[in-house]
Amino acid sequence: MIDIVQELEPLRARVAHWKREGLRVGLVPTMGNLHAGHFSLVEALRARVDRVVASVFVNPTQFGPNEDYARYPRTPEADAAGLEAAGCDLLWMPSVETMYPLGLANAVTVRVPGITEVLDGAHRPGHFDGVATVVSRLFNQVQPDVAAFGRKDYQQLTVIAHLVADLAFPVELLPVAIARAPDGLALSSRNQYLDAAQRAIAPALYRTLQAMGDELRGGGDVDAVEQAAAARLRTAGFDVDYAVVRAPTLATFVPGRDHAGVALVAARLGATRLIDNLEFSLAGVPVQH
Ligand code: PAF
Repeated sequence: MIDIVQELEPLRARVAHWKREGLRVGLVPTMGNLHAGHFSLVEALRARVDRVVASVFVNPTQFGPNEDYARYPRTPEADAAGLEAAGCDLLWMPSVETMYPLGLANAVTVRVPGITEVLDGAHRPGHFDGVATVVSRLFNQVQPDVAAFGRKDYQQLTVIAHLVADLAFPVELLPVAIARAPDGLALSSRNQYLDAAQRAIAPALYRTLQAMGDELRGGGDVDAVEQAAAARLRTAGFDVDYAVVRAPTLATFVPGRDHAGVALVAARLGATRLIDNLEFSLAGVPVQH
């Protein structure tokens, strides 16, 4: 039976008890409305730790004023049932008051410089400050040995790796492969906002990423590949925020120097913004995780 905990004191007591027994603890941070992608994070962790904690917290500080915080789907009962079936031991479900005890206006904010100002950071100002802040809080609250994050949020993973390295959190990061629908669409809680016509268009994101990888391996010029990708997405019906090729660190991709990289896209269908990425190797060997 999964243990559902909403207050900090019992959370700390449970984790401290496990640690006294010498057990390793893993954390899957989520905003709930869980799908197979989240459960794959739980499963990946189960293979590496003795106890798995998942957090469900819709974090207000990572949503912009015109974003979907209020309508973000909240499905706590289904989340708890799914986590239990996936083998999760404890569900950490703090309130906003527990997460930000001094109030949002007085909250200490963690800001990772540089990397948070490009791509999604440029399109969603303040988003990554909210992510870095809540992930720091979750690490302090749960004190996991390992934390799993999906590779779909590639930039988020890069930001969190920077955070962990610079603040010396004693947490090992476990990046987990993107879970996709059979037609290639990356699983996301936001997919449910798509109507039937938009859902039929959405897999073009992944096809575009695959085409970008093929063109780069065929010797394509980076600018031309990016422009062709944006044009392809617009033709499919997307409003494109970006379609870019980057080095694995998200620095500029330099042909001749970089032999692997990542293609990233962010594009909107109506009010729904989707992101996806594909890590590639120019040697022609698909990147394996
Ligand atoms: O990826 C998410 O679901 C969120 O950004 C995270 C890491 C749980 C922080 O709120």
